[in-house]
Amino acid sequence: MSEKQVLVTGACGEIGQALVQGLAQRGGYRIVTADFMPLPDSIKSLSAEHVQGDLVYKIKTFYDYDFDTIFHLAASLSSKAEVATEEAHRINVEGTMQLLMLAAYRAEKYHKAVKFLFPSSIAVYGMSNLAVKKNAGVVKEEDWNTPHTMYGCNKLYCEKLGMYYGKYYGQKHLDAVPPTMLDFRAIRFPGLISAFTLPSGGTSDYGPEMLHAAAQDKPYACFVRADTKISFMAMPDAIKSLMMLMDVPRGKLSNNVYNIAAFAITADEFRRRALQAFPNARISFEPNPRRQGIVDSWPEDVDDSLARKDWNWKPSYDVDRFFDDYFLPEIRKRYGK
Ligand code: SER
Repeated sequence: MSEKQVLVTGACGEIGQALVQGLAQRGGYRIVTADFMPLPDSIKSLSAEHVQGDLVYKIKTFYDYDFDTIFHLAASLSSKAEVATEEAHRINVEGTMQLLMLAAYRAEKYHKAVKFLFPSSIAVYGMSNLAVKKNAGVVKEEDWNTPHTMYGCNKLYCEKLGMYYGKYYGQKHLDAVPPTMLDFRAIRFPGLISAFTLPSGGTSDYGPEMLHAAAQDKPYACFVRADTKISFMAMPDAIKSLMMLMDVPRGKLSNNVYNIAAFAITADEFRRRALQAFPNARISFEPNPRRQGIVDSWPEDVDDSLARKDWNWKPSYDVDRFFDDYFLPEIRKRYGK
């Protein structure tokens, strides 16, 4: 069987590196990567071709490629996007728009529905204060779509753009056969934690930062309060979810956008678990009001029953398995503890 051609943008990011490894491990793909940066050694040999540079200006390069699937991961995350808002909009929205146009063009021209996988985020939710957040508890996809951040606005809008290009684009053909559409599928990720890479520019970063610091005997000042609670997930589960959503036949999907969840814990629970594993860990809490405000607007947990029903989603790692079977063994190997 011939290889499927896949594009992974943002390949140097945390999800990007893990996804490229996951696709290569599965086999059967020609993986084309794109990023601002040169590829790290960990995935260099896995990419058939790397396009380095700003996606918005490089997009013309990709019109000659016949992609079966596009994973558009490139983004400026929530904390960074608050510091450079217009730049974030350009990266997050214009980059996505350009790729959606490319996928829609190819789908229409070659009558082949290019799959477009888009990582959205819990940042699309926005609750006005802590009391509302507590009351809301576990939120569904359609609840609280009132983001407080540029990143959240960008992700929510790009979900809508993806649905537009997937469902309605081509309405100019009013009396003709409707064109083949791109096949848009999005996952709203919780905070992700990898044992191999560290995030940068996100607001859920305190979780992974705290754990990696503890494992290296470095002091860590957590930038949110101890009682701060949001949903997190192991990176291997994030990759599993992308693959599952890629594989599921379109007919089984009742929606374009899906929550997924694994475990919702407080910053204090991270500290407690870090101390259990690394008793000398030095962890303090020094909340940063802006970053605290962002996490306080995100739900404590998300309802992923739609993903469970439509494509049999189920995380492999609950909180105990995350620490015992994934994070701690890997991190001990990595830092020699
Ligand atoms: N992890 C992301 C962030 O903190 C949320 O999607 O920005």
